[in-house]
Amino acid sequence: MKLTSKPWNRIMNIINFSFSNQPDMEIPYYNRLKGQTAIITGASSGIGKAIALQMAKEGAKVVINYHGGSERAKEVVDQILDSGGQAIPFKADISKEDQVMALFGKTLQTFGTLHILVNNAGIEDKAYVENMSLDQWQKVISVNLTGTFLCSREAVKEFKKRGVDSSVSLSAGKIICISSVHERIPWTNNANYAASKGGMMLFMESLAQEVAKDKIRVNNIGPGAIKTPINKHSWDTPEKEEKLLKLIPYKRMGDPEDIARAAVWLASDESDYVTGTTLYIDGGMTLYPAFAHER
Ligand code: BGC
Repeated sequence: MKLTSKPWNRIMNIINFSFSNQPDMEIPYYNRLKGQTAIITGASSGIGKAIALQMAKEGAKVVINYHGGSERAKEVVDQILDSGGQAIPFKADISKEDQVMALFGKTLQTFGTLHILVNNAGIEDKAYVENMSLDQWQKVISVNLTGTFLCSREAVKEFKKRGVDSSVSLSAGKIICISSVHERIPWTNNANYAASKGGMMLFMESLAQEVAKDKIRVNNIGPGAIKTPINKHSWDTPEKEEKLLKLIPYKRMGDPEDIARAAVWLASDESDYVTGTTLYIDGGMTLYPAFAHER
């Protein structure tokens, strides 16, 4: 795919730029997802919201799944509609099979088919194992891991039914799971969360292996410490943020847009040969920073 071949594209790139929280950063858009439909779970805030906005800017029709926060979901939809994109909100608890079926039913009814699934919805519920209730364990595993399974299953069915439509993409479908650095890094006080993310890694790899022959690509993104409501407790005072930055060699927290840009890339044909892998976007958090020392 040539990105800047046509003069019109170049003009659109100049007009359609956005600013991230990083200074002096202009991001051009190339309509890389034009004609494609994407479901983004947990898209009313944080990383999911940023992915939805970015995918819509790249031409995708997006389904904004949410569970709580219907007002915020509506705001995301309005933002997309106001800038000429297409989006609908849909409330569903993705850990419940019937609600996932309804989410996919509504998507196919509205947009005809599906090309991209982003398994983003996730929760934390902290406790030391000795104090963790069965409910705390099950809730986190149900949303993060079972939800990923249920949505992926429905997406694969639709991708295989339709097959490759070369007018929109080289693949029959793309699944991107928003996992975590904690699919690799153990996490005291969060064994339920780390277990769910470790599970997501082998789920993703197994599914990628299973459906590669069908031209379906499955990948994870492993975000590190991204500034969102889920981890506010770890950066809401300067002292806490300073402590957190000790774990990040690159010495800044991530922005949701850092993840969203990678999600667009993984959904686009630019990454056509990429499947079964986790892309860590973490400022080096997975590099064992405690081992770094001055020369
Ligand atoms: C968690 C955040 C945490 C980050 C790095 C993420 O998966 O959701 O709360 O800050 O990992 O530890």
